[in-house]
Amino acid sequence: KYLATLRIGEKEYRTDEYTNITPKILSYLNRNLHLKKDNPLSLVRQRIVNYFYSSFTHGGNPIFSVYDNVSPVVSTKQNFDDLLIPEDHPSRAKSDCYYINSTTLLRAHMTAHQSELLRAGLDNFLMIGDVYRRDEIDSTHFPVFHQIDAVRSQRKEQLFENHPDLDIFEPSFDRTNPHAYTNSISNPIKQSCHTLEATKLMEAQLKNHLIGMVRVLFGEDIKYRWVDAYFPFTHPSWELEIYYEKNWMETLGCGIVRNEILANAGPNNTIAYAFGIGLERLAMALYKIPDIRLVWSTDSGFLAQFQNKNANANIVYKPVSIYPQCTNDLSFWLPPTTTIDTFTNNDFYDLVRDIGGDIIEQVKLKDKFIHPKTKKHSLCYSIVYRHLERTLTQAEVNKIHKEIEDAATKAFNIVVR
Ligand code: PHE
Repeated sequence: KYLATLRIGEKEYRTDEYTNITPKILSYLNRNLHLKKDNPLSLVRQRIVNYFYSSFTHGGNPIFSVYDNVSPVVSTKQNFDDLLIPEDHPSRAKSDCYYINSTTLLRAHMTAHQSELLRAGLDNFLMIGDVYRRDEIDSTHFPVFHQIDAVRSQRKEQLFENHPDLDIFEPSFDRTNPHAYTNSISNPIKQSCHTLEATKLMEAQLKNHLIGMVRVLFGEDIKYRWVDAYFPFTHPSWELEIYYEKNWMETLGCGIVRNEILANAGPNNTIAYAFGIGLERLAMALYKIPDIRLVWSTDSGFLAQFQNKNANANIVYKPVSIYPQCTNDLSFWLPPTTTIDTFTNNDFYDLVRDIGGDIIEQVKLKDKFIHPKTKKHSLCYSIVYRHLERTLTQAEVNKIHKEIEDAATKAFNIVVR
């Protein structure tokens, strides 16, 4: 069913029953959209990096260092274990990640590099790059997107510059022997090892710095709200939502780094905040880009609108032209071993994208049906086709649709209705 080894760049990886990465997905590696001068994601990156470079300096030098060229191939240890993500956490599921094998995957978030950079001795840094998640197919979801993650650490003398009597850690916590202490997160306000003062001060920095960042992006008057959240690697945790075109839009996740992570990685005298923000959603909102696939466009009509632009320029994307979409349905009977509830939608989505490529605009589950007599289970999906740069003919769509039918028949043992 799969090749014994998989070659990615210079390296060969063994494959196993976890392998679910497809050639289509591999083709997105090394595109480095976030570093391309004429890509909107790169403009958003520059704005955010400039904000951190200019707002936080020491002796005239930026405090934050930037890592924007780290390989997306990571271990399950980096992506999950180091971040205290439990063995049975849903985010590890094969249906949600692109696995190269059971211990190697394409990072699902930039936080995957947090521990190694802390271990290397860094205290303030940004991690920027492409991340990979199996998900639905529509105008705002793509299996690859881009994130900026950050860590800011503070020592007692930095955090409590004017209050040398205050401490980061509770007296009951011995930071020279952190493993003798069970750090609890049952209090929603703070981790048990931290003092209230340290947590609150760090929380205030985190929130102020992030509001500063969204103001640089969306203007001084942007409406926002903080929403309590949960991440295994931070406590307390929040999401920041901004009010954009009559909707609350989730922009980022953040929180105070779990002390276990810092202790495992090295520093035992700091408290840190961390956040992660997706670039696509920001770029789409800022530049009025209607479809996430456009950021992958190599069409000069698209790229020219972002070329040689100052990162702070106000750009409103003008569609080169709108080509019609074309919708074909695909209904099929599932094999007796599968039910409408156990069929993995994401497997189907990947197959559709593998065959159809970037002309797949959306795949919608239209209908689930159980035959009253035969009890056979059936699913119907609508596949929306649209080329971003030209009109597709019905004949062309039908041919690809048929190829999808044939491949799905083979892959899932289904019977097309
Ligand atoms: N990694 C989280 C995500 O991808 C974002 C996050 C980063 C949250 C750092 C908290 C701290 O959703």
